[in-house]
Amino acid sequence: MAELIITGNRVIDPYNGYSGPGTIHISGESIERFDPEFISDLGEFENNVRLINAGDKIVSPGLIDMHVHLREPGREDEETIISGCEAAAAGGFTAICCMPNTRPVIDSQEVVRFIRSRAQYAAARVFVIGAISRGIAGQQLAEIGDMVDAGIVAITDDGKSVMDAQLMRNGMEYAKMFGIPVISHAEDMNLSRGGKVNEGYQATVLGIKGIPSVAEDIIVARDIYLSKFTGTPLHIAHISTEGSVKLVRQAKEEGLRITAEATPHHFTLTDDLLKTFNTNLIVNPPIRTQRDIDAVKEGLRDGTIDCIASDHAPHSPEEKDVEFMEAPFGMIGLETSLGLSLTNLVHTGLLPIETLLKKMTAQPAKILSLPYQGFKSGAPADITIIDLNLEWKVDKAEFKSKSRNSPFIGYELKGKAVYTICKGEVVYAESHIT
Ligand code: DOR
Repeated sequence: MAELIITGNRVIDPYNGYSGPGTIHISGESIERFDPEFISDLGEFENNVRLINAGDKIVSPGLIDMHVHLREPGREDEETIISGCEAAAAGGFTAICCMPNTRPVIDSQEVVRFIRSRAQYAAARVFVIGAISRGIAGQQLAEIGDMVDAGIVAITDDGKSVMDAQLMRNGMEYAKMFGIPVISHAEDMNLSRGGKVNEGYQATVLGIKGIPSVAEDIIVARDIYLSKFTGTPLHIAHISTEGSVKLVRQAKEEGLRITAEATPHHFTLTDDLLKTFNTNLIVNPPIRTQRDIDAVKEGLRDGTIDCIASDHAPHSPEEKDVEFMEAPFGMIGLETSLGLSLTNLVHTGLLPIETLLKKMTAQPAKILSLPYQGFKSGAPADITIIDLNLEWKVDKAEFKSKSRNSPFIGYELKGKAVYTICKGEVVYAESHIT
């Protein structure tokens, strides 16, 4: 017998290609049944059943953000597993994947177990991504097999590139053996050394050392070749240049198992904004030019770029309230990702809502083999209800994240998650919604 029933006119299930009216019956942590019809009169269910009538709002499987930096263990002042998951829930995400550049690094079974046990009672599910190299130092492989046994879903040295191609090759061979993908943070660190922003006109005017786009392109090309050579699925994190979008497009045309993600900041912000000297714009890879943004958007439109991920990277005010050159890379993104995507991709007509939701649900689930199947009996009861037309202003006082390092504070956005349901529980409800 269902304990929660959600009904609506606009149910979109990218896993099963469904878009239409629907009613989802939830029992415990799972979906009991899905009926493709809207029940306008929920009166008959009223005994001990919680009812949510979504009306014309979008009912989607729970959103997934496959690129999130939680700072626990190590920098719990910036973000904990619990606070990061609260931010996720407020942003409409029911699942996030955490990156391994914590302190200690996620390079052993113990750290994976620690995170998974802490996440058990959090407001979102946490899937753990392990390191390729021990300590993300790029010297020796991490304990990949042990971490797979403890439940990791992919490996990456995100935050740094694996500069030794032989080590990357070995990492890929291991990943293939264990059936997990490798995620590439593509940055030739010899070319990028000392750089803070995109190399180009703005960097020159401001007198700041730049990171050239070729630093990304060259490693994307190398890793595509290594993936082809080893037969390991490769995912390109936070793609940001016209050149690397082209490389991924070509690799897909060749039939290689290459996927890619783009962040909201890389499809919305140009390096023109750097003249504001807002250190929250310092991010790696850097925000680039209009030409790169256009290429990333075209990649999102034509399917070259499979998913949207935030690269949520919390930093403390002490670290960010410094001179431009001293500021660490990173901005928070969990609570603005959906709003920026709806405003800049859907409301502009670039992507249909169905395509956007696929890039935020079924595609990341497929890349990482996460246990989701959309609205089917027995599937996890993780659901996001979205008001496409809700206009709101990004307010730093409302962030659930422990950090405030967002360049989007004050932005007016259109579209927001109004209910987030994880494991059958309402973990977030927009305050003005009844
Ligand atoms: O901007 C970034 N911040 N890029 C990364 O790759 C790492 C991240 C962080 O951990 O702060």
